[in-house]
Amino acid sequence: ETEDFLAAFQRRMDAEEKIEPNDAMPEGYRRTLVRQIGQHAHSEIVGMLPEGNWITRAPSLKRKAALLAKVQDEGGHGLYLYSAAETLGVTREQMTEELLSGKAKYSSIFNYPTLSWADIGIIGWLVDGAAIMNQIPLCRCSYGPYARAMIRVCREESFHQRQGYELCLTLSRGTEAQKAMLQDALDRWWWPCLMMFGPHDGDSLHSDQSMAWKIKRFSNDDLRQKFIDATVPQGEYLGLTFPDPELKWNEEKGGYDHGPIDWEEFWRVVKGGGQMNRDRITARKKAWDEGAWVREAALVHAEKRRARQLA
Ligand code: ACO
Repeated sequence: ETEDFLAAFQRRMDAEEKIEPNDAMPEGYRRTLVRQIGQHAHSEIVGMLPEGNWITRAPSLKRKAALLAKVQDEGGHGLYLYSAAETLGVTREQMTEELLSGKAKYSSIFNYPTLSWADIGIIGWLVDGAAIMNQIPLCRCSYGPYARAMIRVCREESFHQRQGYELCLTLSRGTEAQKAMLQDALDRWWWPCLMMFGPHDGDSLHSDQSMAWKIKRFSNDDLRQKFIDATVPQGEYLGLTFPDPELKWNEEKGGYDHGPIDWEEFWRVVKGGGQMNRDRITARKKAWDEGAWVREAALVHAEKRRARQLA
């Protein structure tokens, strides 16, 4: 790649032009997108598991229908995202193999267990809330197929976030046991949700280059701060206490200060040592293996149709 080519590409970035699949692009740009979109797709698919765990135990028909629809949406998001990554010359098989071998990451958040029904509300409110905070700027990502996929994904995530908050609101107005269950869920999920935004800016490997390429629009810490500022008043409205004694409004900066994040826990979970990492990958491997006959049948069917059309 010549310097002229890289400079011309950067000028396109600076002019906010969208890059499309057939455009020339630096290999590093392509690799970064394959990595991020692939990780994002895997997160959507693995993210179906913790909530899928509660579909059979939802407390009413209405709750069951909403949860079922939400988990299906996550599957759909995974599929758009795999398709967006495929426009960059990688196959879904390759991406899946990388997930199953542990080479490709998925979001740390999905390696925590869903222990109570309140977890389903908290995941909608906080995990989907954090996902939206991170994904709204991705609608303006310089890579066209990713940016366009994000528009629909964000609309659906916004519905997920509202159903989660409404579930939390219902529990917060319930019995003492329901309120305690909600508080316990917040206590377990708050810190892992803050970790979703990735390491501190100083430790973020890819941020600078991804910002220059207009893949990322805000740094990890900036998005984390926006999330905290938006979320704390919502939690207070529910009568909840955040599990951070140092969480305090800072008038001067116009945002909340918070206590230190346990980065050791974050890296342990990212590297496979979280409570649910092994279960999640085992479940995905089982689904992939058991779906082999469907993939084979679809290929044979497509081949037969093609032959019939040619005849
Ligand atoms: N969980 C697992 N791995 C993470 C996480 C996380 N929460 N945050 C960062 N990492 C990894 C990065 O993937 C990177 O590892 P890699 O080089 O092997 O890929 C490493 O930690 C260093 O982090 P950064 O340099 O900050 O990485 P990056 O610039 O890619 O930023 C971020 C990370 C913010 C997650 C970015 O990739 C992103 O915006 N992704 C799209 C959104 C997404 O994937 N959301 C998934 C969860 S939301 C949902 O699915 C409902």
